[in-house]
Amino acid sequence: MKKPWGGRFTGNTSKIVEQYTESVSFDQRLWKYDIEGSIAHAKMLGKQGIIPKKDADKIVAALKDIYREIEAGKFRFSIELEDVHMNIEAALIKKIGDAGGRLHTARSRNDQVALDLRLYLREESREIIGLLKKLADVLCSMAGKKSGTIMPGYTHMQRAQPVLLSHHLLAYAQMFSRDRERFADCLKRINVLPLGSCALAGTSLPIDRQYVAKLLGFDAVSENSLDSVSDRDFAVEFLSASAMLMMHTSRMAEELVLWSTEEFSFIELPDAFTTGSSIMPQKKNPDVAELVRGKTGRVYGSLMSLLTLMKGLPLAYNRDMQEDKEPVFDTVDTVKLTLNALIQMLPEVRFNAARLKDTAGAAFSTATDLAEYLVRKDIPFRTAHEITGKIVRYCIDNKKDLKDLGLAEYKKFSAKIENDIFSCLKTEQSVRSKISFGGTSVSKVKEQLARFKKKNS
Ligand code: ARG
Repeated sequence: MKKPWGGRFTGNTSKIVEQYTESVSFDQRLWKYDIEGSIAHAKMLGKQGIIPKKDADKIVAALKDIYREIEAGKFRFSIELEDVHMNIEAALIKKIGDAGGRLHTARSRNDQVALDLRLYLREESREIIGLLKKLADVLCSMAGKKSGTIMPGYTHMQRAQPVLLSHHLLAYAQMFSRDRERFADCLKRINVLPLGSCALAGTSLPIDRQYVAKLLGFDAVSENSLDSVSDRDFAVEFLSASAMLMMHTSRMAEELVLWSTEEFSFIELPDAFTTGSSIMPQKKNPDVAELVRGKTGRVYGSLMSLLTLMKGLPLAYNRDMQEDKEPVFDTVDTVKLTLNALIQMLPEVRFNAARLKDTAGAAFSTATDLAEYLVRKDIPFRTAHEITGKIVRYCIDNKKDLKDLGLAEYKKFSAKIENDIFSCLKTEQSVRSKISFGGTSVSKVKEQLARFKKKNS
């Protein structure tokens, strides 16, 4: 097959080279954006009188036909034509002859592929932002419903202090809200038009890049032709925001795995989101949560691929950059699937409120409240910490809980301890007392939820 770039060649391309250099097997996914970009480009060429207006009209009409053919699954992409761009252009020329041959005026595949990737990531980023909003909504509604449920809060995986389940859920909502901001920020740099940079230098023809930007809904036109054909920062940023997001979903997934164990028994996962074992009949495995955790690895890997791919590239376009697409596509698919799975699964998770509360109240989890009680009695915190530590030691030695000690026993450790200590040691009171801004009391969490909802709307 004659190549669109075949003029200066006399020999044929070897088969292995075609196999090695093709990208159409994966970049055909960009077809919609490729056609959208070409239509805008053709309109601009016609308006500027760079090509005859009637040829521009023909190109636009034929591109729309091709659009419908691809949509209907009737278009055959061929690897001999390398990539999505040349496949579509060849089909255009086959349809309308010389008029079609005018489309690639003042354009190169270098600015074209940058354009397609930007259009693609713009749409996908907007979708991911929408999914993040939904996920945060799900967490808010769970937090709203579970407003009184107390659970153990952990540090070092050791029970630390009682907290509200709603507070814990909102911690994740906060992460997803920052993720949303990161994608929105990245969108600003995605939404810049590279087309018109041509191969690397711009063009001698009187193009109107601002017009193309307007047609395609770009906020800005790239400033430097060399930079715009070789810039993939926007894709790295997208992958970086995705990696961070997956880190968050993975942390949450890890807790779901842990909490659903018999040992924790904090939650029961819905049947629809768990699977059985082929050998052990009793098993109910948290596979979805495990895969959310597991798939994080491939997204990190994609970020690393692209950073590594770009690090040694001299200006401007280099063919290495063709390798940017698969990690980006894989990440988009993984992130969207992950978010959709969580959006559907989380509302079905059943919490074992009694178990959560019992666990929250054990293991001296109100020891810090006792120390703060002593601080209120004018004891320096370091001393209060020491006294409380001794009380805990005494309890461990005598197999007792803080609530089991009598006032006389407490007095042995500090004369300042009075009867009002006992309410302080209650799990509910411990939570209720955390009224600092951002703290875990019901009132503060309620305020947090209200602020969050407002921001997330
Ligand atoms: N398939 C190529 C890519 O994905 C398109 C640009 C090719 N440009 C070139 N001069 N070979 O990067």
